[in-house]
Amino acid sequence: MCGIVGYVGDEQALPVLLDGMKKLEYRGYDSSGVAVINVQSVVSTTGQTTMTVERKAGRIGELLDELDGTTIEGRIGIGHTRWATHGAPTDGNAHPHRDCTGDIAVVHNGIIENHDVLRQRLISEGHTFVSETDTEVAVHLIESIIESKGCSLREAVLEAVSILEGAFALVCISVHEPDRIIVARQEPPIIVGASATAGLVGSDIPALLAYTRDVIPLDNRQIAEVMRGSVRVWGFDGVEVEPETVHVEWDMDAAEKGGFEDFMLKEIYEQPEAVRNTMRGRIDGSGRVTLDEVSWTVDEIKAIDKIVVVACGTSFHAGMAAKHSIEHWTRIPVELDLASEFRYRDPVLNSRSLVMGIGQSGETADTLAAMSFAREMGTKVLAITNVVGSSMTREADAVLFTHAGPEIGVAATKTFLAQLVAANIFALYLAQERGTMYGDKLTETVEAMRRLPEQIEETLLVQDSVLQAAKRYADARDFIFIGRGVGNAVALEGALKLKEITYIHAEGYAAGELKHGPIALIEDGVPVVAILTGEPLYEKMLSNVEEVRARGADTILIAHEGDERARALANELFEVPTTKPLLSPILDVIPLQMLSYFIAKEKGLPPDKPRNLAKSVTVE
Ligand code: M6R
Repeated sequence: MCGIVGYVGDEQALPVLLDGMKKLEYRGYDSSGVAVINVQSVVSTTGQTTMTVERKAGRIGELLDELDGTTIEGRIGIGHTRWATHGAPTDGNAHPHRDCTGDIAVVHNGIIENHDVLRQRLISEGHTFVSETDTEVAVHLIESIIESKGCSLREAVLEAVSILEGAFALVCISVHEPDRIIVARQEPPIIVGASATAGLVGSDIPALLAYTRDVIPLDNRQIAEVMRGSVRVWGFDGVEVEPETVHVEWDMDAAEKGGFEDFMLKEIYEQPEAVRNTMRGRIDGSGRVTLDEVSWTVDEIKAIDKIVVVACGTSFHAGMAAKHSIEHWTRIPVELDLASEFRYRDPVLNSRSLVMGIGQSGETADTLAAMSFAREMGTKVLAITNVVGSSMTREADAVLFTHAGPEIGVAATKTFLAQLVAANIFALYLAQERGTMYGDKLTETVEAMRRLPEQIEETLLVQDSVLQAAKRYADARDFIFIGRGVGNAVALEGALKLKEITYIHAEGYAAGELKHGPIALIEDGVPVVAILTGEPLYEKMLSNVEEVRARGADTILIAHEGDERARALANELFEVPTTKPLLSPILDVIPLQMLSYFIAKEKGLPPDKPRNLAKSVTVE
């Protein structure tokens, strides 16, 4: 998830680009860069480059310092704020990327899955690569098509998109066509527009809003040619289509949040996309799990005799659910440790152990210290994180990035789902390499994972029921969450979400433990949230629900669609689609994220910025 801006028109491009990039910085802030063409100085006969490119690692402020008031003359340009996926967040990996001649520049949001193959092909044709990014293949590919066919930039991009695999919003300019910006979309959103004096491009509405309120969100698999005063659009099949203009009424604040009131809600709704991105390129057409990031040999993988998961907060809950999948699918015993406790308990580790650190920020001090301790003990270390270049990646032998895009809300939502998916993919990979899962079972599970993004979309439809429950229970003093198996991890996560953004006292418990103490808290009207989706323990969960109802509790149940027994016992029912039991936390937690969010709103509390909390906890 990166931010893209493009401008062509009567004004100087640089200030427009920088202004748009600042508005999109929430989409990525690892590095930023601009490319501007100065038409007056085009010297096409000598082949001399006339494009100025400035790029800098860090937030946009770093780029502004680098520019330090310098003006780059030119009325057409593209800009980018990066959220790294391939290649560390360095100056060299920052966008825009250029072809060998320096005449074409490209910015990109997404992941080009076949970048390795294309890179090798283009290198063998004589192209020189200067970055570690997947994006750079796109610009060399376009260059190579123009060289061989002598075609226009638009025709070259049209051909390139039939070769590129994966997800991309690509925006390109060329010194040889300095009056137009070519835009292509395969999945990630990109918006174009034009006023009488300008043509505009942005990955989100805020980048365009100051110049036009009439925008064209490109459809999937479309190409646009954006010029001063006009936009033309074609399908990837080359057939021109009539673009559909949308009039935007939002103010700037609403636009930055995509029309949602808060980043947290926006991020809850981004979960289908986040999960798609976590899976992208990791399951091939035949259903095999491929993890290029993990370079351990099969023998090394077979030698692992224990996995220890270390994490904090929500990431700990992802690890708690992953323990079940890893043990069930691979038969490797898994220990689960709060990162803050791990080092101090004198854990038994050796070279056959694998320590798996999970953390969205990659900067949590406790998790870092636990991973570093594990390294000193000579174990293998794997990191699952959302942030490329974060400290956690330096403590690990292998890193699985979750690719969920930046999360602004302090409460972790989409990064939690992405962690669950990444950890499950890793578990399946271990099972596949160790041969501990029958082929048909593996295929069946992979297929269930592939269905998840759509099922998440379906789960989001629960919003109206959740809103009703939030209104009803916003004034509750206590909440109890119960679950069994992976449902226990969901219960703990539900309680944590509620505590952190609504400040209501909440307890998450393994449902079977209730009778050993916490059941004393149950009295008339206490809301008890129970997770009823875990197949093997369903009957036992129903009994626990009966127990709390008998003592006066109000029950809020998460159950499969059409579960009439659950309906009969529920004061509030949140229905979710059915998936494999071990994957069910990925769906079950969504109504609980929403419940916390809407209760916080009922109470007039700020969900994005809960008191006393920070997005990354860098102190022990
Ligand atoms: O960045 P990390 O995942 O390592 O952060 C760990 C916790 O601080 C974090 O998950 C925290 O619990 C969340 N804000 C909960 O929503």
